Amino acid sequence: MNRIARITRREFSALAAAPLLSQVALAQTGAAQPLITRAIPSTGERLPVVGLGTASVFNSDDEATRHAAAQVVQTLVDAGGRLIDTASTYGNAESVLGKVIAGAALQRKVFMATKLEAPDAAELQRSLTRLKMAKVDLLQLHNVRDARQSLAQFKAWKAQGLCRYIGITSTYHGDFAALEAVLAREKPDFVQIDYSLDGRVAEERILPLAADVKAGVLTALPFGRARLFRAVHGRMIPDWAQDFAGSWAQFFLKYLLADERVTAVIPGTLDPAHMMDNLGAMHGRLPDAAQRQRMIAFISSL
Ligand SMILES: NC(=O)c1ccc[n+]([C@@H]2O[C@H](COP(=O)([O-])OP(=O)(O)OC[C@H]3O[C@@H](n4cnc5c(N)ncnc54)[C@H](OP(=O)(O)O)[C@@H]3O)[C@@H](O)[C@H]2O)c1
Repeated sequence: MNRIARITRREFSALAAAPLLSQVALAQTGAAQPLITRAIPSTGERLPVVGLGTASVFNSDDEATRHAAAQVVQTLVDAGGRLIDTASTYGNAESVLGKVIAGAALQRKVFMATKLEAPDAAELQRSLTRLKMAKVDLLQLHNVRDARQSLAQFKAWKAQGLCRYIGITSTYHGDFAALEAVLAREKPDFVQIDYSLDGRVAEERILPLAADVKAGVLTALPFGRARLFRAVHGRMIPDWAQDFAGSWAQFFLKYLLADERVTAVIPGTLDPAHMMDNLGAMHGRLPDAAQRQRMIAFISSL
């Protein structure tokens, strides 16, 4: 049977909104196949593996940004995605998300993750107000830099129902020792670190410990802030990757998702066509171990 004929109504409406290139990319990777989800280790709740990052791109609370953000968030939700990652320090991203999500009544459809700089009640209240939410799904301590940082207040907020999960983040490798110490001692539900095909420090430093303490892993900077797209500019996806990747974005995201310890990737975009393209990584086959090695060799050779 034709693949397109087997997609769900939700997937069809998202496809209809996407430009032709993205439709082709999605169809090539098997949108007809079931959505890939991963269990959050602490509860077993399943999350669709492709989410949305909002650093830099959602910064400005202006009409053009809100319009594009609304399309990106609707594309995510229509295709079955849920996870949106933001932070109190991403300019006006929380305010933009609050307006877009409340405006489309999507509060119950998204899994909202935000970050605070400190366990500060005023900062949490500001985030909830801006997001127009009484609670968030995931509350993360942003950029952990000291091994002594405590999650006691975050755990108290979780017990009070202000968040469902707690987490910690860092993309500064100089702070990874502190991140590891807090991860081992506090055992949060999630850890978020930078991880990309050409930036694989997390494989040695964080992923093994996250598995030990049963923390879910969110991967920030999955494209190295678009560095990977620049590296392959003008090149075709290799033949041996075409049965699992319909685009470069899917090639890069599926490398990460092939590691079972990764709960979800959170590529940043303000472009609905790019969102659709990225969501294609939730479908079809993931590369096997040999293909992952080949992907590393390929990117290293550029
Ligand atoms: N310490 C922390 O906790 C921390 C630190 C950094 C980042 N983060 C999180 O990680 C998220 C991701 O990081 P990031 O957004 O900085 O970098 P990224 O996801 O690695 O790359 C984003 C860039 O890729 C482009 N892009 C996205 N999808 C594309 C596609 N399908 N085709 C071509 N280009 C595409 C985007 O441009 P377009 O807008 O044109 O699509 C943007 O320039 C952040 O948004 C944030 O939520 C967390």
